Amino acid sequence: MTEPAFPMPRRCPLDPPAELGQIRETGITRVRLWDGSTPWLVTTYADVRAVLADRRFSSDPSRPGFPASRPHAGKARSFIRMDGADHARQRKALISDFTVRRVEALRPLIVETVNRLLDAMDRRPVDLVTAYALPLPSLVICHLLGVPYSDHEFFQRTSREMLSGSGDSRRELVGYLAALVTKKQAEPADDLISKLVGNDALSRRDVVSMSVLLLIAGHETTANMIALGTLTLLQNPSQAAELRDGADPATAVEELLRLLTIVHLGRRRVATEDIRVGEVLIRAGEGVIAAADAANRDPSVFENADSLDIHRRPNHHVTFGFGVHQCLGQPLARLELQIAYPALLRRFPTLRLAASVDELTFRTTMPVYGVDALPVTW
Ligand code: HEM
Repeated sequence: MTEPAFPMPRRCPLDPPAELGQIRETGITRVRLWDGSTPWLVTTYADVRAVLADRRFSSDPSRPGFPASRPHAGKARSFIRMDGADHARQRKALISDFTVRRVEALRPLIVETVNRLLDAMDRRPVDLVTAYALPLPSLVICHLLGVPYSDHEFFQRTSREMLSGSGDSRRELVGYLAALVTKKQAEPADDLISKLVGNDALSRRDVVSMSVLLLIAGHETTANMIALGTLTLLQNPSQAAELRDGADPATAVEELLRLLTIVHLGRRRVATEDIRVGEVLIRAGEGVIAAADAANRDPSVFENADSLDIHRRPNHHVTFGFGVHQCLGQPLARLELQIAYPALLRRFPTLRLAASVDELTFRTTMPVYGVDALPVTW
């Protein structure tokens, strides 16, 4: 039997590949990756949560059998790719800065930034990615970390290139943040990097790799979510109007997160012992890909799973992952999105695409799905 190649191509830019839905019906199967390896693909909501909740599945790409997304993926690692005590120690050092309550304190800054960016959108058409979707999360994470926003062209480019697999960009970004860490060792400021520098449980190397992870995770994901979420709303104008006119933004944001599952191409793991998942016994050393995008469209959990319903409740999607690696920045991402969409729709009630969807370039091969540019007018 020949295994289907993974990842499969999307046919519709805002929907996961149709094959994932077929596999979800037939059960766990092996797929073939770029390097010829054949890990298991897990697609139902229950199986995806079971894999992500089970610590016997490792996130460490240096283990044999790990289903790498590309050559040398994860050579230099941050804690998103660590297991056990190392992961716990680094995550613990950040948890108190990303609670819902702590993040809520950033609301005035986010509102003020949103308004400033919207004020600057005084010519049409405009590319929503460069004018709004990217600068908002970038400015916020810079403020939090203490990274000068004036360097944004550099770190936005290197982050994007790193996500596409360029080792040189990683070196550039690590060098940049290592220099910044040195500066904060000499002159601590009131920011997160300075706080981490002063934490005895962390080495300098830890602090640099944590800063790289936060800087990338903090803007690429939310930026693509703002752009693709806006595109989705423009394709569902009556729901966009409801959100503009006061529908609960928190509920709407959960639904856009579920439907789009922008961190696509699967959460990657490798079994450290024999583990049964559903009908299949996954052997120690075998790779597993947990497809959150397929799980989020599982019709046994989500009614009309392929449609947008900004009032959907409950909505326990797995867009932020599940288990010990569940997204640390989710309160921040949620707050930014809850402010960003309604503010945009209210400022420009006649907002519409200034291109056809066929003309847009989607980032199909990057682990964070997105759109290169989103021309809009009003
Ligand atoms: C819509 C926006 C976002 C999405 C969809 C998202 C998604 C995810 C997912 C799926 C994971 C789990 C990875 C795994 O299981 O292997 C994750 C982890 C992580 N995310 Fe996010 N993220 C978003 C925004 C953010 C933001 C704004 C930050 C930081 C400020 C952030 C920081 C992190 C960190 C540090 C981890 C690693 C957690 C760990 O391994 O313990 N993310 N994110």
